[in-house]
Amino acid sequence: MPTFQTVRGMRDLLGKEAQTFTYIINEAQKVASLFGFKKVFTPHVESLELLSAKSGEEIRQRMFIFEDLGGRKVALRPEFTASIARLATTDLKTEPKPLKLFSLGTVYRYDEPQRGRYREFWQSNFELIGTNKPEADTEIILLTNKFIQTLNLQGYVFKIGHIGIIRGILSQEGIEEKTQNAILQRMDKKEYDLALKLVTSEKCRQTLQNLIDLKGKDWQDTLKQVNTLVSSYEMAKTATDNLLEILTLITFSCPNISLTVDPAFARGLEYYTGMIFEIYIPQLEIALGGGGRYDRLMETFGSESTPAVGCAHGIDRIAIALQTQNTVSNIGAEHNVMVIPITETVKGEALKIAQQLRERGVSVEFELMGRKMGKALEDADKRGLDYAVIVGKRELEENNIVLKDLKKREQIIIPLTELYEKIIK
Ligand code: HAM
Repeated sequence: MPTFQTVRGMRDLLGKEAQTFTYIINEAQKVASLFGFKKVFTPHVESLELLSAKSGEEIRQRMFIFEDLGGRKVALRPEFTASIARLATTDLKTEPKPLKLFSLGTVYRYDEPQRGRYREFWQSNFELIGTNKPEADTEIILLTNKFIQTLNLQGYVFKIGHIGIIRGILSQEGIEEKTQNAILQRMDKKEYDLALKLVTSEKCRQTLQNLIDLKGKDWQDTLKQVNTLVSSYEMAKTATDNLLEILTLITFSCPNISLTVDPAFARGLEYYTGMIFEIYIPQLEIALGGGGRYDRLMETFGSESTPAVGCAHGIDRIAIALQTQNTVSNIGAEHNVMVIPITETVKGEALKIAQQLRERGVSVEFELMGRKMGKALEDADKRGLDYAVIVGKRELEENNIVLKDLKKREQIIIPLTELYEKIIK
């Protein structure tokens, strides 16, 4: 028999890693409800046509595409946005606006596998549909900020831009959309020379170069400079004003937020029309999440113009970030207990004690292999548990219990009624 392994780029998640993923996912769900986003489940397989619409060359080339047995051209979802846009233009078309939808699950891209880059990865995805107001863009940034803050990640920074600045310049220069997309794809990869080669007007090239060179720490100052640089490009000026309004709202409502403005920032996806952002921590060069405004995607599905803004967070990368910053050791480790009956006769009592602790929220494992105490304690140690609750006949008769602190290697006999307090103290 061959020894089977996971397919390249796909991973099993086990042990601590699985625990970390569960923790991140739970926090994402909490943020969703804090901000009033409703959970939806959409299929992993969608029509190729839907997934290709305005996603951009970069994603189109990396999709897992196949023909199903009915001859339909389909693909594994490379992201959630297209599926949510499909929902918004069909089943949820008449729902009151704004629509606020939250999705969570795996997505698939044929990326070159490396640390933080997989072919199957997890996203928590938020879409806010039906409004073009800057407060909607702000909410998406604020919820991402809340999420990352709750996870206790340190030193994170938002990189924020506006795709309307570059597109505004290129449109006014008469550059058609296809070439604009090619330019932006190169800018996303920081291949600025290649991007500028696609621009014919010298004035336009110079403006773009100046925007590329503009990277200040102070966002207000940066935006002032952008305003001057694009003064003869009406659409780019409108985009800059919009970005100013969004940033003013963000920094007013969340004064401690750390952000940089990069006016030449572009993202791999083609559907963006407005504010775009990504989030980074200093220890990792890859983005933990990103998103932006996409006001024209729904039109391509034959719907009326429907403005929208959204984001996705990369759970796999957030797990790496937590590990890098050493935050993982605290996760899920609260009050983990092993209950061990010393003899057969106290099994029932021991199970009852386990149940009572669980009812009060303590995570309890029960010795299920019928091992002798020494072996059972060894096992509890190996599993990294904090306490062993040792249930003995003699102690029970006096309404007592043995509590062993596995970290401090101390053992005490206490009244059963004090067990919970002692564990959670
Ligand atoms: P995205 O930037 O393509 O945006 O992906 C979001 C996040 O998914 C990235 O920031 C990164 O953390 C994670 N990610 C991307 N590729 C990989 C990979 N190969 N392995 C592991 N993690 C990865 C979107 O997907 C948009 N749909 C976001 C959005 C929603 N925009 C508007 N609404």
